[in-house]
Amino acid sequence: MKNNQEIITALNWRYATKGFDNSKKLSDSELNLLLDAVQLAPSSYGLQPYQIVVISNQEIKEKLKAAAYGQPQLADASHIFVFAITKNYTTQHVDDYAKNIAVTRTIDVIDIQGFVDTMKGTVNSRSQEELAIWNAKQAYIALGVLLETAAIADFDACPMEGFNNADFDEILGLEEKNLTSVVIAAVGFRSADDDYQHLAKVRKSKEDLFIHV
Ligand SMILES: Cc1cc2nc3c(=O)[nH]c(=O)nc-3n(C[C@H](O)[C@H](O)[C@H](O)COP(=O)(O)O)c2cc1C
Repeated sequence: MKNNQEIITALNWRYATKGFDNSKKLSDSELNLLLDAVQLAPSSYGLQPYQIVVISNQEIKEKLKAAAYGQPQLADASHIFVFAITKNYTTQHVDDYAKNIAVTRTIDVIDIQGFVDTMKGTVNSRSQEELAIWNAKQAYIALGVLLETAAIADFDACPMEGFNNADFDEILGLEEKNLTSVVIAAVGFRSADDDYQHLAKVRKSKEDLFIHV
């Protein structure tokens, strides 16, 4: 367990890695740590309205690189995480979640009918466009969990929005799965040559960032 200073040191050490060492790969246990962490990410009501495609196949990574304006992270990182939201989001997804709760907590769905109705009310009150925005917000929380966990575990990562969503969806066959990509992260190990790792962090001052009342 890291102490407070070690946690902040790790978060300062993290940076949006541009140059990955393509000879270094995450081991199975390192990858599993990230999968465990992302699985535990919070989401509104706990619905997790997304899936995450994890790519290590080099051929696919090269295709994704071409669909991400040639950004080198796509081909050189160990793994690419593509956060994809559920496209046509319906109350069926709420029912699936309710069943999972019932099984996990050994209760009947009827015991959580009020909660289920509240969730369905939220889903029914929103257009598919609004639901897509809501679902994307949840996916970004999972992205944040991935980034912070990677930093604390001494892995490098680069969050990325600079890619063509339609091309990614096609390469990964997401349409057929009722999914669409919203944000990605390249994960692996920094190259010693990546000068970005030496740049000072530019952040708002605490006075500008926080409002204490
Ligand atoms: C949602 C999101 C999208 C980003 N997209 C890209 C990207 O496409 N390519 C890239 O090199 N960096 C990308 N970044 C990295 C940011 O530029 C970087 O996090 C920011 O400048 C702060 O620097 P630091 O993360 O190194 O501290 C993205 C970051 C976030 C959070």
